Amino acid sequence: MKRVLSGIQPSGNLTLGNYIGAMKNFVKLQHDHQCYFMVVDLHAITVPQEPAALHEQTETVAALFLAAGIDPAKASVFLQSHVSAHAELGWLMTTLVYMGELERMTQFKDKSEGKESVGAGLFTYPALMAADILLYNADLVPVGDDQKQHLEITRDLAHRFNKRFGEQFIVPEPYIPQVGARIMSLDDASKKMSKSNPNPGSSIALLDEPDVIRKKISRAVTDSGREIKYDPANKPEVSNLMSIYSHCADLSIAEIEAKYDGLGYGPFKKDLAEAVVGALEPLQQRYRDIRSSGELRTILRQGAEQASVIANETLRGVKEKMGFVKP
Ligand code: TYM
Repeated sequence: MKRVLSGIQPSGNLTLGNYIGAMKNFVKLQHDHQCYFMVVDLHAITVPQEPAALHEQTETVAALFLAAGIDPAKASVFLQSHVSAHAELGWLMTTLVYMGELERMTQFKDKSEGKESVGAGLFTYPALMAADILLYNADLVPVGDDQKQHLEITRDLAHRFNKRFGEQFIVPEPYIPQVGARIMSLDDASKKMSKSNPNPGSSIALLDEPDVIRKKISRAVTDSGREIKYDPANKPEVSNLMSIYSHCADLSIAEIEAKYDGLGYGPFKKDLAEAVVGALEPLQQRYRDIRSSGELRTILRQGAEQASVIANETLRGVKEKMGFVKP
């Protein structure tokens, strides 16, 4: 059975982008793969986090994993900081990665741009992410398009280690959706929808109330035409809304084009809003049930125990190959 690993940072309110780009595939892959899904709290602190907010967001994201349909009987759900092998292999990977490789990372450039002081952890972030993936010898990593570059560096590090120290790691493949790999902001289709964008109107949060969702969609930017046509180069705003609709209503792009042929943006946006509300309402209900049931801690503890078995075994192999003396 193939192994799957992925993670999401608890650094803000999860958006429809996170759901469509990544979480939907987590849920899909769990049925016939050995899956590890984690909240990457160690990654979140590469930018300053207020401790109480980090604590709350971490639990929120873990509960959203379950609310989205990840079944802890099928997949291990855990927090990165609960499996100490991540930090340890992360350090070993930091010694393998080159400064030049890290300097090329667009996520680093975006997040450090214009900042007076930037933590060193933000720079070495990809080494920790490589460790996350390689610890489980994951074959597939379900992510959105923006993580491709990090996957590339992970693959390079796997090859580099295997060549220098002997076969240890599987070289992982990204698993990216065909439609919706890059959901764009509602106010500016040249930027990706992001949980860290300070303008709440730019994104739909998974926990937004139905009326907030309706308002955000009615205000979403479109072009001055009226044709519902998937054409990302010339109609990026409408094409983005169509990708969202496709996922939330389970319709193909061709079906959406046929359904709104000649109807204009008004009816399309109205139905889109109801499709998003309809997709998120059951998730939100399950989220509330999970938070009030008190079962989250137990699930996370069990997930970390399961993950630690594989992670510690890999770490032992890595340290032995690198020449560390056994305790
Ligand atoms: P993060 O927390 O920024 O995002 C989590 C996942 O959501 C996807 N995503 C999107 N997909 C489509 N459209 C969007 N607008 C959009 N915004 C976010 C991301 O591609 C990602 O899959 N570095 C990672 C976290 C990480 C990780 C890992 C992922 C740490 N270790 C190991 C996979 C495996 C990140 O910052 O994701």
